[in-house]
Amino acid sequence: MIGAGAREHALVLALAGDPAVTALACAPGNAGTAALAEQPGVDVTDPVAVADLATRWSADLVVIGPEGPLVAGAADAVRAAGIACFGPRAGAARIEGSKAFAKEVMAAAGVPTARSELVDNPGRLDAALSRFGPPWVVKDDRLAAGKGVVVTEDREVARAYALTLLDGGHPVLLDCYLDGPEISLFCLVDSERTVLPLLPAHDFKRVGEGDVGPNTGGMGAYAPLPWAPASLATDVAARIVRPAVDELARRGAPFSGLLYAGLALTTEGPQVIEFNCRFGDPETQVLLALLRTPLAGLLRATATGALAQQSPLQWDPGAAVVVVIAAQGYPGVPRTGDVITGAAGKGVLHAATRRRDDGAVVSAGGRVLSVVGTGVDLAAAREQAYQRVEHVHLPGGHYRNDIGLLATRRENGPPAGG
Ligand code: AMP
Ligand code: GLY
Repeated sequence: MIGAGAREHALVLALAGDPAVTALACAPGNAGTAALAEQPGVDVTDPVAVADLATRWSADLVVIGPEGPLVAGAADAVRAAGIACFGPRAGAARIEGSKAFAKEVMAAAGVPTARSELVDNPGRLDAALSRFGPPWVVKDDRLAAGKGVVVTEDREVARAYALTLLDGGHPVLLDCYLDGPEISLFCLVDSERTVLPLLPAHDFKRVGEGDVGPNTGGMGAYAPLPWAPASLATDVAARIVRPAVDELARRGAPFSGLLYAGLALTTEGPQVIEFNCRFGDPETQVLLALLRTPLAGLLRATATGALAQQSPLQWDPGAAVVVVIAAQGYPGVPRTGDVITGAAGKGVLHAATRRRDDGAVVSAGGRVLSVVGTGVDLAAAREQAYQRVEHVHLPGGHYRNDIGLLATRRENGPPAGG
């Protein structure tokens, strides 16, 4: 396993629970994954180093968690070393690595998405802003860990953000605003172009309760969606993911791994906000809490082009909720080095944590822990998640109290703001 977040902790936990797994390594890992896996050091941004580690370790399967290594070509290097790899090659990971490329693929594939324009010259910015908004959606074209997008009713704020990027030499993508609840649908995709959707989930992007404040990497999630039609996953897989997968293959960049569609459910149907080339964080934490199908076999089937032979996925019938505990300052500059207590509790997944020489677990970044609860329904899952949150202490830490709350009150239609 390559990566170090709560997503990777959830993946390692699920892999460890698959009887087919005899040994596990997670690099670089965190204080949580250390209890389940060996943690060899590696520079994850260096594809050759990742492949060398996999070879040294005689890995049967390498699972790459974050987008950075994928966009850099880690999956290419691992495959070149003759080792099965879960995760797309760099050519296909571009669907996340460049928003402009993603838009090109969507246009060619007829996938519904927001109209957009790439601006690379400050002289063209004002005219372009006038063709959009309010609200304005201004995106950094590069990878930005979920924090590169500003959505604002204030033209001056939009303009200032765009200029900061342009002044740094980075192109800006202006997007038409998509109105509607946001959902995430993850699909396993293999080299034979078999597409297998997981359960749809809802991710809470804004830092503050009631969906206010800046965007984050994700402050919580729940699954399944009690308000969504049962056909949502198969519909999106057929109308959105399948055409994108076919178009990537047509361009000589076939996708293999997990294709994440971030969607807005608009009055005109689902439209793509973004594609990601990997498991999402924190949605993975809730999906894996519900998945009964052994994970290693499933990821191996994906990596080796055998998804068509996979038996239907088995899910727990209930619901799961994850609450992210973030460090003081996040999503700005997080304070690190705070001593965390209660982090060994049930359902507590580690993200930015490390073990100090004296044995204490301390915070080491923005999103510090993911606390997962499950139950017969969303309300029960929420109750367990927040009970577990009570037992964790991170000085200065903050979390949202309203993860999944509105959805517990609304079973027959999407709640405004999740
Ligand atoms: P992205 O990095 O493209 O996923 O954008 C991060 C977040 O910004 C999304 O999850 C949305 O909440 C918001 N966002 C991005 N694009 C749009 C859009 N076209 N309309 C409305 N909100 C958007
Ligand atoms: N949940 C948002 C992301 O993983 O990008």
